[in-house]
Amino acid sequence: MTIPVAILGATGYTGAELIRLIEAHPEFEVAHLGAHSQAGKRAGEVLPGCAGSMANMTLAAADAALPDAVALVFTALPHGAAANSVFAALEAGKKVVDLSADFRHKSHDIYKSAYGTDHPHTELFEKAVYGLCEFARSNIRDSSLVANPGCYPTSTLLPLVPLLKAGLIDTSGIIVDSKSGASGAGRSAKTDLLYCELNDSVKAYGLPRHRHTWEMEEWALGFTGHEIQLRFVPHILPMSRGMLTTLHLSGSKTNNWHDILHKTFADEPFVRVLPQGTLPSTSGVSGSNRCDIGIAVLGAHEAVIVSCIDNLLKGASGQAVQNANLMFGLDETAGLAIHALWP
Ligand SMILES: NC(=O)c1ccc[n+]([C@@H]2O[C@H](COP(=O)([O-])OP(=O)(O)OC[C@H]3O[C@@H](n4cnc5c(N)ncnc54)[C@H](OP(=O)(O)O)[C@@H]3O)[C@@H](O)[C@H]2O)c1
Repeated sequence: MTIPVAILGATGYTGAELIRLIEAHPEFEVAHLGAHSQAGKRAGEVLPGCAGSMANMTLAAADAALPDAVALVFTALPHGAAANSVFAALEAGKKVVDLSADFRHKSHDIYKSAYGTDHPHTELFEKAVYGLCEFARSNIRDSSLVANPGCYPTSTLLPLVPLLKAGLIDTSGIIVDSKSGASGAGRSAKTDLLYCELNDSVKAYGLPRHRHTWEMEEWALGFTGHEIQLRFVPHILPMSRGMLTTLHLSGSKTNNWHDILHKTFADEPFVRVLPQGTLPSTSGVSGSNRCDIGIAVLGAHEAVIVSCIDNLLKGASGQAVQNANLMFGLDETAGLAIHALWP
């Protein structure tokens, strides 16, 4: 018996990645695909990579009633639009993994500061579990609503949290410099994302305060009890997928930092701490649900940590499936690749 699943936002980049993952999953099965402007078309007409019987599935409207049999809903929708779909799915008795930012914050004020708009369902904030699997497993297992973390926060918090917990990092003046492939911005048409605007170029954006800064600060505090101040600068690169985050950190006992990270993640299937001095690359994680972490100690009080993820996998749909596996009591690694698509 498989578990029927709905994917809302199936025509976007994270939705398409979810189709690919769920099709290969031993326990889940795609039972419903939802879209917005493309509703009414067949999946294969809109998604060039979608083949086989899935290509013939008709895309339902985002607000269409979900089939009774569906037990799990992935909402891969823009923030703002996701909240109402999440509410409706929960009312219908489904479990939900929301890939948007709509349930990542615990305070309406913070949500409004980050996203510039009111939230229609603040009553669900308490119910939502922030699904950074490595640090929230037991809460995720008991939850019916998981807020899947953002891609930049995932690549930042995984290495940062263990060192903050150890009390070895200066909590002000943390600099996070990230580079993302263009799929991080989604599939909708934007002038900034045209080939001629992106190709042969790298640019920073989102300053003075990118919306993920609030998420990183809130969950650094939530997971460690330490309030931090971040300077976060994201960049977009002319590549389809991949994310590299560089953390510039100061503190004490930097020679112990590698050991702390190594011990924290020793049994984690999807986090790999590289030997001291070895730094990761996006090609080493592309197509996998892995986060690779490398550290370079610069002196007794300073170090640089580099982490890499595939923004569409550990940064979105892969982590969403990891969360769903936990919510349904399945093997956490079911349907998820540990090895990268390499070269
Ligand atoms: N891309 C990433 O790397 C990444 C990483 C982490 C989290 N996320 C988050 O995941 C969510 C999906 O991202 P994405 O990159 O997959 O976006 P995307 O490629 O732009 O796809 C958006 C999807 O939502 C549908 N949609 C658009 N406007 C809608 C509306 N007003 N109401 C209902 N549905 C609507 C679209 O349907 P039609 O095509 O039919 O219009 C499409 O299926 C976003 O909240 C994003 O912030 C993305």
